[in-house]
Amino acid sequence: MRFTEHTAAESSDPSRDTAIASLLDACFDGVHGGRTWFKQIPHERLLAWSGSDLMGHVAMEYRVVRVGEVIVPILGIVDLCVAPAARRQGIGSALLRGAEERARGQSFALAMADDPKLYQRAGYSLLHAPNVTFLAIDELRCHSVIRRDLSEIFMVKQLTFDAWPDGPIDLLGHMF
Ligand SMILES: CC(C)(COP(=O)(O)OP(=O)(O)OC[C@H]1O[C@@H](n2cnc3c(N)ncnc32)[C@H](O)[C@@H]1OP(=O)(O)O)[C@@H](O)C(=O)NCCC(=O)NCCS
Repeated sequence: MRFTEHTAAESSDPSRDTAIASLLDACFDGVHGGRTWFKQIPHERLLAWSGSDLMGHVAMEYRVVRVGEVIVPILGIVDLCVAPAARRQGIGSALLRGAEERARGQSFALAMADDPKLYQRAGYSLLHAPNVTFLAIDELRCHSVIRRDLSEIFMVKQLTFDAWPDGPIDLLGHMF
């Protein structure tokens, strides 16, 4: 497996973008609508290739969030996915590790996960997050600023020595 990394500042590569869009569509039931991103263009991506076939993808968004009175720099894990035929060989876990290694300046990695298994194995924990404020984006339009209990999906991994502070969470933007 060969891994490549790409920043948003790079000029686009049409064949790579086509491969990313079709992998995302295959893995997320077409919700990306043929785009290479869902709500916003990510800052970085890590891609896993077998020859010229794109087998896996993770996007990284860097941000600060507010937790109570503390501002916390985080890495947002976005659109982690592996082609169905290549799953359960460790590619998803390797992409997650690679994303974390590239984000050493951030205090925490954050992922919103319907299924926590892969993340728990990688050292993430579900956070009690009954009060999360974020910008709701629907169909590429800002909808409203909403507050939700995300305790069932909000996963956090400590990347430095800081402990997660107490208090309500403001994502200062959209949800990953
Ligand atoms: C989640 C996913 C990236 C895992 O990729 P992978 O290369 O198979 O991952 P690994 O081989 O490193 O680990 C496999 C383990 O991931 C876990 N897993 C499976 N589906 C998962 C999911 N949707 N979310 C989190 N973990 C998952 C399982 O524990 C699995 O091992 P098991 O089947 O033996 O229990 C892949 O299943 C996928 O693309 N799913 C569709 C997209 C998706 O749901 N992405 C997660 C967004 S939060």
